[in-house]
Amino acid sequence: MEFTAEIKKATSSIYEKVQKKIPEIEWATHAPYIYKINKLKKEKNAVILAHNYQTPEIYHGISDFSADSLALAVEAAKTKADIIVMCGVHFMAETAKLMSPEKKVLLPDMKAGCSLSSSITGDDVRKLKKQYPGVPVVSYVNTSAEVKAETDVCCTSANAVKIVESLKVKKVIFLPDDFLAKYVASQTNTEIISWKGTCEVHEQFKDEEINEIRKANPGIKIIAHPECPPDVIQASDFAGSTSGMIKYVRDNQPEKVMMVTECSMSDNVQIDNPNVEFIRPCNLCPHMKRITLPKILNCLENESNELVMDDQTIAKARKSVERMAEIGR
Ligand code: 13P
Ligand code: SF4
Repeated sequence: MEFTAEIKKATSSIYEKVQKKIPEIEWATHAPYIYKINKLKKEKNAVILAHNYQTPEIYHGISDFSADSLALAVEAAKTKADIIVMCGVHFMAETAKLMSPEKKVLLPDMKAGCSLSSSITGDDVRKLKKQYPGVPVVSYVNTSAEVKAETDVCCTSANAVKIVESLKVKKVIFLPDDFLAKYVASQTNTEIISWKGTCEVHEQFKDEEINEIRKANPGIKIIAHPECPPDVIQASDFAGSTSGMIKYVRDNQPEKVMMVTECSMSDNVQIDNPNVEFIRPCNLCPHMKRITLPKILNCLENESNELVMDDQTIAKARKSVERMAEIGR
């Protein structure tokens, strides 16, 4: 696509924002897509929801709402748009469909999965429920609708502790993230039965790396996602969901920060916090990175890659997400 003078002018305010992260030569490729997508989404009454791990040209260039998985689910439930384009991974698009079954939900790349979501099936949950009769099941939102349908209440990293405590029981089955389960166990008195799932991005962080960075950068604030191994969280100053981490930077304006999470997020947050210096770990989520501007344009133009789910799964899975929303309120 051609980078015309008209497109250059129409996208100049966006480029001003992202220029520190996107070189001019790259912008010439992105801008025509951004221009076309922004025009088309208005014509089709579509909304673009983007997870915080999307690249800056998506996060700052075309998204109407960017957030963590909890806020994306809430936004999907209340949007007035006819079409939702989910710039994120498959379970996020499924959750949007659960919350807005009458809407057309599109995922620009159907192969955008998640190592946590693929670590467990509905059948695994049914077996666990037989093994621990009467013990409530709390599932992380990073699961398939099939797993959510077997779940009592869903949670995200932003509310996991609150959800577990709200149940007021001695024991819960907490799926599928073993590290998040350990984090929750460290914050409550509830006994946690976990599953051996991990996030392939966050499991790579090591506490030695954190300690070395702290030594080399006196005064640095290190903030971690709760999908990290427990010793990494312990070595950090704060743990929270992706939006919790963004809020920490916005509210505290540390001189120097390291966000122990997927690496595009530091780019996005640095653009909004120019006075904060970021030490960037570079762990990319290969699933999130499947979402690109050409794929977004293609699915919006053709209304392709639509999430199709049967009514029974929607009804069952939706209950666990709604229960989470009620507790969160
Ligand atoms: P958040 O809910 O914190 O956005 O996390 C989602 C995720 O996939 C992190 O790896
Ligand atoms: Fe899944 Fe980890 Fe990627 Fe998040 S970063 S989508 S948990 S693989």
